[in-house]
Amino acid sequence: MTTQTFIKNLYQQFDLAKREIDLILCHVLNLNTAGLFIYDKPISTQQEQQIIEFLEQRSDGKPLAYITGIKSFWNLDFKVNEHTLIPRPETELIVELLLKWTNDNFTGNILDLGTGTGAIALSIAHERPKGQVTAIDYSSKSIEVAKYNQKKHLIKNATIFESNWFSQIHNVKFDFIVSNPPYITEDDPHLEKLSHEPIAALTALDNGYSDLKLIIKNAKTHFNEEGKLILEHGYNQHEHVQYLLKKNGYCDIITHKDIAGIPRITTAGFISGN
Ligand SMILES: C[S@@+](CC[C@H](N)C(=O)[O-])C[C@H]1O[C@@H](n2cnc3c(N)ncnc32)[C@H](O)[C@@H]1O
Repeated sequence: MTTQTFIKNLYQQFDLAKREIDLILCHVLNLNTAGLFIYDKPISTQQEQQIIEFLEQRSDGKPLAYITGIKSFWNLDFKVNEHTLIPRPETELIVELLLKWTNDNFTGNILDLGTGTGAIALSIAHERPKGQVTAIDYSSKSIEVAKYNQKKHLIKNATIFESNWFSQIHNVKFDFIVSNPPYITEDDPHLEKLSHEPIAALTALDNGYSDLKLIIKNAKTHFNEEGKLILEHGYNQHEHVQYLLKKNGYCDIITHKDIAGIPRITTAGFISGN
């Protein structure tokens, strides 16, 4: 059987999108998609077994990013593994808003809380090379992945370390604090579809608000004179997040819709001493 016939048979054998099958083939054969169409070298037994195993895992619902170990976010590719959340396209809105409020000459400080793969923090650091980005997570395994991604993209203006929210943040104040914290309730039926991802990266107590509340309250003492908080939250949480922000003395509170039109990010200003 030729290699191209083997590939065509896979399209018939597996009830998966052709694009996903191609990406798994490219991953195992170390090719780009253009190279796959003309690939005519024989596929070894080991490669064949690996391809079939990955296609079976994908058919069983394992996310493609956990199979290939890579996910694109904003302008960079990030290593992901079972210890990190897969960065989502809707989270790119955090980066977009921050870039809108700064320019190439921005030299301020930015804090990313719960950085996971480092997707938000490293995308911002890459786009604003004169700014200083601090990124924390309480998961040491996530920190390892985020540091790997920092090295891979040669990003010098980011500092990544372990911290339980603000516990290890000392002697530095920020112009922007951004976060995509856990915000799903523990009994949310959507969790079934997310069973491959680390549960601690997804769920929060207190109806999903425990981490959002803690961040809103504690961020206030970590801002420079004027600061901005950019928070991702659940599709039905914007009204309560706005209420919490108001209650804590924030101003200019605005909720922004994601690419699917869902209220997903709420931003607010904070003026110290007010
Ligand atoms: C929803 S994930 C977001 C990951 C990444 N920022 C992204 O957008 O793809 C939440 C992250 O918060 C981290 N986290 C949860 N509780 C934390 C805590 N108490 N302190 C610091 N990080 C925490 C999790 O480990 C996880 O990486």
